[in-house]
Amino acid sequence: MSPSNRLTIRRPDDWHLHLRDGDMLATVIGDSARHFARAIVMPNLVPPVRTAKDALAYRRRIEAVIPEGSGFQPLMTLYLTEDSDPDDVTAAHRDGVAVAVKLYPAGATTNSDSGVRDLDRVRPVLEAMEKAGMPLLIHGEVTDPDIDIFDREAVFIERHLTRLMADHPGLKVVLEHCTTADAVGFVEAAGGRLGATITPHHLVINRNAIFQGGIRPHHYCLPIAKRERHRLALRRAAVSGNPAFFLGTDSAPHPIHAKEAACGCAGIYNAPTALATYAQVFAEEGALDRLEGFASLHGPAFYGLAPNAARLTLEAAPADAEPDRALADGGGLHVFTPPGGLSWRVAEAG
Ligand code: DOR
Ligand code: ZN
Repeated sequence: MSPSNRLTIRRPDDWHLHLRDGDMLATVIGDSARHFARAIVMPNLVPPVRTAKDALAYRRRIEAVIPEGSGFQPLMTLYLTEDSDPDDVTAAHRDGVAVAVKLYPAGATTNSDSGVRDLDRVRPVLEAMEKAGMPLLIHGEVTDPDIDIFDREAVFIERHLTRLMADHPGLKVVLEHCTTADAVGFVEAAGGRLGATITPHHLVINRNAIFQGGIRPHHYCLPIAKRERHRLALRRAAVSGNPAFFLGTDSAPHPIHAKEAACGCAGIYNAPTALATYAQVFAEEGALDRLEGFASLHGPAFYGLAPNAARLTLEAAPADAEPDRALADGGGLHVFTPPGGLSWRVAEAG
């Protein structure tokens, strides 16, 4: 095969993943472990993973279900609350229990009720993290109900992120799952200590996909998909080679019955198809030579970790849609496929 339809890269990591707990965790873990070496595990469980002790216990529950021989490594995060203790947070970092802290504005998304209402109240924690070199991962949306849902990220940047970056000049920050041209521009201008993850779904759907011929709950996530011009800005950022942008799937499993409901949950389960989707996007953009940077090098560099030594091979080949996953309670879990189908697949995962 010619180089343009087969590509071997260092094994990627997922810098933004929801693994949940219990039966759901056991169902989804294999899909991530198959393609990714490491993953930043988000802490929005019920109750949230707030302390070093919580993170250690959660890591053990994850480790108990990691498929043997996969070598998959969960990188734990702590859920920031207005009661978080700076010493506990930085001790978790020092002791290798948690690599980062996640900031959810209260009410912004799934299980964010214990999140932060007033950023001034977490100032001591942020100062301690700044000193310790511990990154802050941000769900960057305002929760003010008067702000249009499609504007919540841009307004968060304007009202909060700009000040947070100025108030904490040494803090490493990741603007998670960025979805707008505004975010891309802000990250580009920040010059290094601000990174951003980009999901596969935000690269292949815009907001029309949520309403294509009817309401499409499996295309509903937060931050919500935006206008086409924002999707194009995300694609340009992802393939640009700028090390501030890296892979984070935001794979977020919810049972089908919770998605297809009068008030459906936000979240797209894409762990099985994420890498193929990214490869397809980079191929379409004529930038396959930059996929390894985005998927396997920029993230480790930001977090101060070594890239993985193992390799993974992708190839251009029409792939069938992934079947829904069966859940332990008899329900199902829908797997995201790009609207036009998938034309790449993981050929060898090592
Ligand atoms: O769509 C989303 N789902 N966005 C988030 O921020 C959280 C996630 C989840 O945990 O379900
Ligand atoms: Zn998420």
